[in-house]
Amino acid sequence: MIKKPLPIVIAVLVFSFIFIVGFSHSIHETPKKMALNDNKKEHVQPSTEIKEKLPIIISPDNIDVLVNKEYGLPEDYAPNDLVYPNIPFLFNEKIEKRMMRKEPAEALEKMFAAAKLDGICLAGVSGYRSVARQEVLYNAYVHRDGVEAADTYSARPGHSEHHTGLAIDVSGITGEFAVEDHFADTKEAAWLDKHAHEYGFIIRFPKGKEEITGYKYEPWHIRYVGTEVATEIFNTNSTLEEYYRNYFA
Ligand code: DAL
Ligand code: ZN
Repeated sequence: MIKKPLPIVIAVLVFSFIFIVGFSHSIHETPKKMALNDNKKEHVQPSTEIKEKLPIIISPDNIDVLVNKEYGLPEDYAPNDLVYPNIPFLFNEKIEKRMMRKEPAEALEKMFAAAKLDGICLAGVSGYRSVARQEVLYNAYVHRDGVEAADTYSARPGHSEHHTGLAIDVSGITGEFAVEDHFADTKEAAWLDKHAHEYGFIIRFPKGKEEITGYKYEPWHIRYVGTEVATEIFNTNSTLEEYYRNYFA
């Protein structure tokens, strides 16, 4: 065996040390920059995928469209398959807020019928809302409570799920505690919490997820996403935001 001079051996060792430290530093740094504020994603490169899939996720006609404070709807958007679901409402008029898109309307009819069999009589409070109506409501809330407070419970125009025709506020048939915090303590809220996903709906603004959804707990606001996505969100005790974040994990 050929003997290497000591200075060469030392030089090789020093060079190897610098290379290994430098390389391991770079593999820990690079994914962090690409991660979506989530440690689980350090091993994937989501940026390209998100760029490709974002237009689908926020496409307004998609049943599982993501609409929130960050992602709004096109200003002139209106769903083209609005119908009047055959369920009781707290009012009699055939007006805009009695409507929903066809698929959620049919799911809602099934859900109300199933609830009734369990002795739970539900009623619709407010379904579809045009952007003009959301603007009137949001401005009224700002006038009453100020911008900061209004933003905790009302979407700005163009950012409400009611505008998609996929969301509806529901209450018990008497209307007691309709769209009020106390609705959370009713048997109707408990039934929805347990069963809504079986019909493709999620409690869109759950308790304890305010930081993620951007809104306070709304046990009455149910959002149709289809049974597959709803069941996944129900089983993981999560939100639509988390669902899409995990989608890239
Ligand atoms: N209350 C919900 C956040 C809305 O205004 O759409
Ligand atoms: Zn609502």
